[in-house]
Amino acid sequence: MSDQLASQPLLPALGLASVIVLVLSIVVLLYRHRSSKPGAGRKASIFLNGEQAANKEDDRPKVCILFGTQTGTAERFSKQLKSELATRYGEGNRYEVLDMEEFKAEELHKETVVFFMMATYGDGEPTDNAADFYGWLLKASSDVDKGIGNGKLLEGVSFGVFGLGNKQYEHFCAVGKRVHKALVNLGGRALVRRGDGDDDEDIEADFESWRTELYASLDKSDVLAKSTTGEPGVTQIVAAAETVPSYQVEILTGADAAGAEDVSTDAPVSGNGTSKDSPFLARIGVVRELHSPQSDRSCVHIELDVSGSDISYEAGDHVGILPENSSESVERAAAALGYPPETVFRLSVPEGNPQKMAQPFAGGAITLRAALARYADLLSPVSKPALQALTAFADGEDAARLHRLLSPDGAAEYKAWHQQSRCLLEVLEEFPSIKPPLGVFFGSVMQRLQTRFYSISSSPLPHPKSIHVTCAVVLETTATGRVHEGITSYFLKQKAPGARVPVFVRHSSFRLPRDPAAPIVMVGPGTGLAPFRGFLQERAALAAKGTKLAPAYLFFGCRKRAHDYIYREELEAWAADGTITKLFVAFSRDGKTKDYVQHHMARESALIAPVLREGAGAGGHFYVCGDAKHMAKDVARAAVAIVEQANGVSTGQAEAVLKRMSDAGRIQKDVW
Ligand SMILES: Cc1cc2nc3c(=O)[nH]c(=O)nc-3n(C[C@H](O)[C@H](O)[C@H](O)COP(=O)(O)OP(=O)(O)OC[C@H]3O[C@@H](n4cnc5c(N)ncnc54)[C@H](O)[C@@H]3O)c2cc1C
Ligand SMILES: NC(=O)c1ccc[n+]([C@@H]2O[C@H](COP(=O)([O-])OP(=O)(O)OC[C@H]3O[C@@H](n4cnc5c(N)ncnc54)[C@H](OP(=O)(O)O)[C@@H]3O)[C@@H](O)[C@H]2O)c1
Ligand SMILES: Cc1cc2nc3c(=O)[nH]c(=O)nc-3n(C[C@H](O)[C@H](O)[C@H](O)COP(=O)(O)O)c2cc1C
Repeated sequence: MSDQLASQPLLPALGLASVIVLVLSIVVLLYRHRSSKPGAGRKASIFLNGEQAANKEDDRPKVCILFGTQTGTAERFSKQLKSELATRYGEGNRYEVLDMEEFKAEELHKETVVFFMMATYGDGEPTDNAADFYGWLLKASSDVDKGIGNGKLLEGVSFGVFGLGNKQYEHFCAVGKRVHKALVNLGGRALVRRGDGDDDEDIEADFESWRTELYASLDKSDVLAKSTTGEPGVTQIVAAAETVPSYQVEILTGADAAGAEDVSTDAPVSGNGTSKDSPFLARIGVVRELHSPQSDRSCVHIELDVSGSDISYEAGDHVGILPENSSESVERAAAALGYPPETVFRLSVPEGNPQKMAQPFAGGAITLRAALARYADLLSPVSKPALQALTAFADGEDAARLHRLLSPDGAAEYKAWHQQSRCLLEVLEEFPSIKPPLGVFFGSVMQRLQTRFYSISSSPLPHPKSIHVTCAVVLETTATGRVHEGITSYFLKQKAPGARVPVFVRHSSFRLPRDPAAPIVMVGPGTGLAPFRGFLQERAALAAKGTKLAPAYLFFGCRKRAHDYIYREELEAWAADGTITKLFVAFSRDGKTKDYVQHHMARESALIAPVLREGAGAGGHFYVCGDAKHMAKDVARAAVAIVEQANGVSTGQAEAVLKRMSDAGRIQKDVW
């Protein structure tokens, strides 16, 4: 998404600046209202011009915006912020957006104004691209606490932190919170309160109100040069649809179109599978349904043959899978865009790249079918900037409605509309006059289809070149009534053996203890069983080689013994041969009341308490995997209760014990 395409008529109500924005919006609305002839007088909303200063080498104040992201929201927000700042404060400053991976943490003190867009994942962890920076910052801050660091290191740095998270998770916005605290501890000056964005509610609105406060604070401060053109925020221009950032598109026919990438050809990846930038085309060996025919749900066992790659993995690692949209979604999207799916085209950035667009996802000739299937996120909730870009291409009633939704007066209506999380496909179908050119669609509207991760459910000891996945197949009805078939889980379920899928391995720290004499407790209902199947394969292989193993207790849970007791034969065979010392299975829907793994844990506290004991040579390792939003929290509470009772301590003291164990790597979570 281009930087220019960000903010628009939603700028906060801030004195004269907002009055000007409002007036301009009304002008645009009136103008649009009059020009309802299809294709005529297409005027976009207010576009922000942040590029004028881009090429000047100078000593103007620099604003650095860093993002830690996994699925792209923090990056999108960074670009939006850059665009708005450039518009509000003009050419007197420089503005830079950087992936945290590309930023040298040790040089942070040289910056003057830095904004951090930080997403939280896993168990309150940073994203992969932010991990190094985060580790450095927290260490520097903890050194200050220990009296060995420099509490004035960031004295000249003014900053703002917006955390991205979801309140359903136990550690809500933990990364943003810790980053803010560490920056203050190192002497940095907060320009604005910390922002905590909740994507369970309306993260765009949270971001908007944080920006409102930030601009109010910046307007009063002198850290940035103010626009030379007048009041802050007056550099907005009313732009024509033609100014929405767009790739150049060549439509190819005849011999030029021959050999274009299509869904019938393998995805053009040629990596060794060892990182996200280098996926490997794995061959599907096995696709097997794990639920019985009586079950109304589906969970599939997949085996990925990675022979010929450089992939090596350990039990507990994750595999990333690059999915494709279903042919039905692709056909509908092509129809909504008004092009046949077999259209062959090539994208390129316009000469000189004045709008600083990223290189397109496909450099060569590609069919629209393949571009929509492999690269476009058609089904996730549509973002506001994408909606704003689309609005520039709406006509008549569609245009009037979208402008109302996006105007300050339409905020309540927009909120209700947004809560139904319409996807891009639904928006294109709901507003049929919107027919963006392909260059705009792929350059300014679509978000990239994201990789999905799976906990590997095998061990390399018996399966060095085969990676197993245990995948629950998603089938849900969304708030708009659309039946959502999970993009990746359906993609995998429908694959035939022999098909090839791009994959890579991401290493994790979820590991069996180094010491085989340490007892382990594994808690993993549903697909949370996945990594433990890998652990158990590993234990079985070690035992076969004569290694003496400590006890291993597995707490598994499913709905009904006859429906979704996945891998039953394997688990019971391992329980019989001692690979699992004791197996506990909770069937939540076989009895009158719910029976969950944590209920079994409470009953088996005498067995678990010794594993959760502190002290040299004592205790073992405790693992939990699966649902983060409910199960993992309840299991954590059950563990606290066990320690409380066994040690005769308060809840707070028991929590402290578990925190220390967690810090020591003896409690590990793989939750999503
Ligand atoms: C570290 C990690 C390990 C994991 N391990 C496993 C594992 O071992 N096994 C496993 O099965 N899963 C695992 N997952 C989950 C997995 O990555 C996928 O999230 C899961 O398979 C669903 O992906 P999907 O593409 O099929 O579904 P998606 O299409 O991504 O849908 C996911 C959810 O989003 C909702 N949704 C999508 N679009 C909309 C919309 N427009 N409006 C409202 N709701 C919408 C869907 O209804 C559904 O609930 C893991 C995740 C992580 C992060
Ligand atoms: N983000 C995603 O896209 C995605 C994809 C797949 C799975 N998930 C999450 O991962 C979880 C596992 O999915 P799954 O399909 O493998 O498992 P599942 O079959 O939904 O659940 C496994 C067992 O856990 C039980 N359970 C529900 N709430 C619990 C709680 N608070 N504590 C302990 N046990 C609980 C279930 O019981 P009842 O159902 O009878 O209550 C069921 O018996 C799901 O709950 C889902 O939230 C997320
Ligand atoms: C697997 C998974 C784990 C997550 N864990 C947390 C968490 O521990 N705390 C939290 O506040 N949000 C959590 N989130 C929510 C994300 O932080 C949120 O969706 C955010 O907007 C993602 O930003 P990004 O698109 O820039 O990666 C999690 C989301 C996923 C998919």
